[in-house]
Amino acid sequence: MRILVTGGAGFIGSHFARRQVGAGHEVVVLDKLTYSGNRANLAAADCEFARGDIADADAVERAGAGCDAVVNFAAETHVDRSILEASDFIRTDVFGTHVLLEWARTTDARFVQVSTDEVYGDVAPGVSSREDDPLRPSSPYAAAKAGGDLQVLAYVRTYGLDACITRGSNTYGPNQYPEKLLPLHITNALDGQPLPVYGDGSQTRDWLHVEDHCAGIELVLKEGAAGEVYNVGGGEEVENRHIVQRIIEHTGADASLVRHVADRPGHDTRYSLDTERIAGLGWAPAHSLEDGLPSAVEWYRTNREWWEPIKASGDYSRYYELQYRTRLQTATS
Ligand code: NAD
Ligand code: DAU
Repeated sequence: MRILVTGGAGFIGSHFARRQVGAGHEVVVLDKLTYSGNRANLAAADCEFARGDIADADAVERAGAGCDAVVNFAAETHVDRSILEASDFIRTDVFGTHVLLEWARTTDARFVQVSTDEVYGDVAPGVSSREDDPLRPSSPYAAAKAGGDLQVLAYVRTYGLDACITRGSNTYGPNQYPEKLLPLHITNALDGQPLPVYGDGSQTRDWLHVEDHCAGIELVLKEGAAGEVYNVGGGEEVENRHIVQRIIEHTGADASLVRHVADRPGHDTRYSLDTERIAGLGWAPAHSLEDGLPSAVEWYRTNREWWEPIKASGDYSRYYELQYRTRLQTATS
């Protein structure tokens, strides 16, 4: 199969692209190389690469020539950035998805939309989101992803597009841009820098290893039913303050680095996914957080050449300053 992997120079997309090449597929990566896209993520992958925007129909047509399927990872992905400025999120996650859908409709390509548990909004203790639950996004990021999902479902119904959606939970592992909780805190801990915890840190996230996430997307690409949504959750729900403690243990950092800072506006308290549907296709996570977290810490410890240039970059410094300066000045430990 020849697969168009959009956003394949990012965190999850690059793992997926490498995995498909390893499985003997031809892979074309289409990526705009925004701040989180990184050619180094594909260094060892024998795939074609096209720099371009999924919102640009000509770029999509050129990169997609001859492809049987598209797996859409391309997105603006960070909740905190969406709260600062949402327009790129609408342009890529909503309009870009529309452009890709139009391309798939005219070429009959199979379509997998990589989405997120955040589209359900947060859920009460004891409740897990099912695929047919209403979408109640809380952040501009989650709303933009929900806008993408709804278009996919409409194209299946109206045009008979052969499309599925996956909704993954919080994903971790090597090559994740160090703005998300785990890579930010792991790299800060390794450098003896503050570990900013939003609010009281009692919010819960469900952690999923990147290889398990990719295995779920791969299975849905192969066997998912058109028009179906599949939750992909790690089943490892941990309060933020507890995962930060585990990072401190695995890095050997000083616990006094923890700072409780101003909360995220609209902060979702808890995500949890019911994964019965994808389990029915034969998927189950192969990595536990107990093994996956120390191995992720080890990757960041031994791959400083990957993240140090990112953290030294102007874009990163500007973002960090904007996001954390005031928060850290007014922090409590
Ligand atoms: P990432 O930010 O690491 O990568 C996103 C990639 O998309 C980057 O390479 C970027 O250059 C590219 N991109 C952005 N805008 C583009 C555009 N207009 N055209 C082409 N390429 C563009 O993100 P990630 O964490 O790897 O997330 C990948 C996908 O998985 C996203 O759709 C995200 O919503 C979804 N997801 C992520 C998680 C998570 O925890 N990271 C969980 C569930 C779902
Ligand atoms: O749930 C899937 C989603 O997970 C993906 O769709 C998103 O692309 C991805 O960014 C992630 O969203 P979150 O907002 O859950 O992830 P983030 O790593 O930004 O934050 C995880 C939790 O940690 C959240 O409750 C906010 C908190 N947090 C985050 C940062 C960056 C902190 O307490 N301090 C921080 O510095």
